[in-house]
Amino acid sequence: MPNFLKDYWEFLRQFRERFETTGAVAPSSRFLAKAMTVPLAQREGVSRVLEVGPGTGAVTKKIVQLLKPDDQFDLVELNDTFAELLLQRFESDSKYRAVAKRSAVHVCPIQEFKADHPYDIIISGLPMNNFPPDLVRQIFQRFFKLLAPGGTLSYFEYMYIRPLRKIVAAPPEKKRLTELDRIANEYLDKYRIDRSWVFVNMPPAWVQHLRKEA
Ligand SMILES: C[S@@+](CC[C@H](N)C(=O)[O-])C[C@H]1O[C@@H](n2cnc3c(N)ncnc32)[C@H](O)[C@@H]1O
Repeated sequence: MPNFLKDYWEFLRQFRERFETTGAVAPSSRFLAKAMTVPLAQREGVSRVLEVGPGTGAVTKKIVQLLKPDDQFDLVELNDTFAELLLQRFESDSKYRAVAKRSAVHVCPIQEFKADHPYDIIISGLPMNNFPPDLVRQIFQRFFKLLAPGGTLSYFEYMYIRPLRKIVAAPPEKKRLTELDRIANEYLDKYRIDRSWVFVNMPPAWVQHLRKEA
């Protein structure tokens, strides 16, 4: 079976088994992967890069192509099935193999990940709209702790998902979504440098780019 079909199948299986943390029925499109990696494509010099929630590697595939010879690349993935699949890619796929020596897959939740050095670029695929507000706040704090001064965080969210869900949600869920809006807006108001619209994705998504003060 070709890799992309394997990835779709595994993603769907994990969505059914671990809906809350998988958060999507299919891997991101290449258009979304391209939008998520704009800061990586445009940076100058050597970078430390962190990908959080790589899943089956829809964005990883683009990242490994953009890495420069002295860059370091860490991946943090909670789901051991996805992590195993990625480790196999680093052994068997030539694009991944080219950067395997300076890459590491860490199997743990990002909340528990400890790093030796800060990162210049963080790219996150976490489905934060599925999480409780306390966890989302903790994750944003963790991202900003892990970022080097002047470093960028890029993450995606499905377009209009929170306002649409709010229309049909019961009061406790509405409250949760309103709290998520508040937390995300705190960070976006302070740190956002750009937002892109990606229509060719299932579902269409916004990519938010934030930069920590230099
Ligand atoms: C929506 S999928 C995105 C996968 C991939 N980046 C893509 O765009 O196709 C979310 C991924 O985040 C992972 N994940 C969820 N919560 C996590 C956490 N707390 N720490 C690390 N990874 C997490 C899931 O296992 C899953 O692989």
